[in-house]
Amino acid sequence: MSDELLTAARDVRENAHAPYSGFRVGAAIRTASGIHIGCNVENAAFPEGVCAEGGAISAMVAAGETEILEVLVYAEADTPVAPCGGCRQKLAEFAGPDIVIHLAGTSGITTSMTVAELLPGAFGAHQMDRD
Ligand code: THU
Repeated sequence: MSDELLTAARDVRENAHAPYSGFRVGAAIRTASGIHIGCNVENAAFPEGVCAEGGAISAMVAAGETEILEVLVYAEADTPVAPCGGCRQKLAEFAGPDIVIHLAGTSGITTSMTVAELLPGAFGAHQMDRD
């Protein structure tokens, strides 16, 4: 795991807008062109909030990248935060099954899992093939 990814996710977490949960999360995605970052942005209309991973994916696509090479998610929790189901699906859109997602917390404990481990049997575009 690169220190660069850890620093990027930890730093962007500082900008999270999480007045409702108080749970700030940062995410950093490495692609061929560099690192793309996002933090969770909550909303008074709760379902309108977006997760850190979703924000980082939007920044990545806006930068012209669609291939994820590595991800790190950083949250202030004793145990590494588990990405929500929706974020697992969003990551699988741009990351192959063997891509590694690092989950880090303030305790220093980091878990690393592949996309396939996070989302076994993922739904993908190939399942919409009709021939
Ligand atoms: N959250 C993320 O941003 N990423 C995760 O992997 C887990 C949860 C956010 C969503 C919400 O703003 C807050 O954490 C509490 O669920």
